[in-house]
Amino acid sequence: MAQDSSQAGFWESRYRDRTMPWDAGSVPAALLQWLPGQAPGHVLIPGCGSAYEVAAFHEAGWDALAVDFSELAVVQAKAKLGTLGDRVQYGDFFALSAQPPYDLIYERAFLCALPRRMWADYARQCAALLKPGGSLSGFFFLKETPNGPPFGTSEAELQALLGAAFELTERRPVAASIPVFDGAEWWLSWRRC
Ligand SMILES: C[S@@+](CC[C@H](N)C(=O)[O-])C[C@H]1O[C@@H](n2cnc3c(N)ncnc32)[C@H](O)[C@@H]1O
Repeated sequence: MAQDSSQAGFWESRYRDRTMPWDAGSVPAALLQWLPGQAPGHVLIPGCGSAYEVAAFHEAGWDALAVDFSELAVVQAKAKLGTLGDRVQYGDFFALSAQPPYDLIYERAFLCALPRRMWADYARQCAALLKPGGSLSGFFFLKETPNGPPFGTSEAELQALLGAAFELTERRPVAASIPVFDGAEWWLSWRRC
């Protein structure tokens, strides 16, 4: 169980030991470049970890909700965010309801954190939480990986996973990734049909 990344304890121990190779340490540059071109609305940040992005979304006019099922990650994120700490909630992404229906789900290192057996549920839940015309946008780890996390994928696999409910509308490689994702990180936007 301790090695099963579907379990909160798997992540809790990593936050406790500060073994967080996925943590960017700040808001990723590609998000800061992308935000000015977007109309603000309600954004969900699932599996938010340190939740640096809450401040960036807030400054750009978005109503942000960040969720993580690691209690320690939530406590640490709230402490760092100060008055914006109330935008971070302890909870399970798969138990969220579509209230409000979201305009955007921001993805970074969440899908690749989940065992592949959970990916169809991820796709279903993203589709359920988003408004028609909303988008699932962010960083996707496109690399063949025998083990994980991070569990890599391919654009073809993502198309098979998301294609029934989403249309791919943006696609570009990410420069300046942190080492664990280096050379395999892509910014993708999937529009909810
Ligand atoms: C690899 S970390 C990424 C954290 C953050 N997105 C980032 O970019 O630094 C994956 C995060 O997803 C969280 N997580 C995994 N499954 C979850 C679930 N079902 N509900 C909420 N959070 C979850 C973990 O606790 C962990 O913080």
